[in-house]
Amino acid sequence: MTTRPAIVVLTGAGISRESGLATFRDADGIWARVRLEDVATPEAFARDPARVQAFYNARRAQIMDPQVAPNAAHLALADLERRWPGDFLLVTQNIDDLHERAGSRRLLHMHGELLRARCTICGATQRCIAPLEVTTACADCCRAGGLRPDVVWFGEMPLHMEPIGAALARCDLFVAIGTSGSVYPAAGFVAEVRGRARTVELNLEPSDGAALFDETHHGPATQIVPAFAARLLAGLVPSNE
Ligand code: APR
Repeated sequence: MTTRPAIVVLTGAGISRESGLATFRDADGIWARVRLEDVATPEAFARDPARVQAFYNARRAQIMDPQVAPNAAHLALADLERRWPGDFLLVTQNIDDLHERAGSRRLLHMHGELLRARCTICGATQRCIAPLEVTTACADCCRAGGLRPDVVWFGEMPLHMEPIGAALARCDLFVAIGTSGSVYPAAGFVAEVRGRARTVELNLEPSDGAALFDETHHGPATQIVPAFAARLLAGLVPSNE
């Protein structure tokens, strides 16, 4: 192989599981306890904003708990980004900030960020570490609207799709980590790049789309991600460059 393939890494909730954050669709996942229709749609927010705010307030408080920290998988991806000589983009579906805290910089949150809030009237976003109430006003600009979590709900458009599409179009290696492959458009990335780019899945168990990957490694992210990153940096992973 040559040494500078362009890489796109996609992460999902599985990478943060060993940091103490629940996934969505595992047996002990968030959607086993709460109906997504009640907390993660624009209709739910219109119907019962207090309930939706309470759900995200609890999740925000959890990621700010000093016990929750980046794990070896987050750290390995940040280290890979620093040392990789070619193009690198980390696309995450996660709304936690563990990739940033691990040191990742070339990072796009396609489902938004829990530590940001967005005005429902003017659309301005701001950092948000305090609980949001139904009446929390937009302080920075219009002062009229209410704030909502700056996250993407079911039925809304994911963020940053243009730069993500451009990176997918030119990547030689696509690596999906800790995602069940059940939510589009992220679930469709592997089919989009397949044939052009080498595709690798790193997940606890085979995902819904596991058959679409050229290479799969199954196990806990804290073990298989650092091991894969080390092989990549040693030039031992082929790509389609
Ligand atoms: N290491 C690696 N993978 C793991 C681990 C672990 N320690 N623990 C769980 N997993 C895997 C599971 O086997 C599963 O395939 O992580 C995956 C998590 O899948 P989901 O819960 O569906 O999470 P994700 O794919 O990120 O969900 C996508 O759905 O509800 C929405 O907006 C939410 O961004 C989220 C989107």
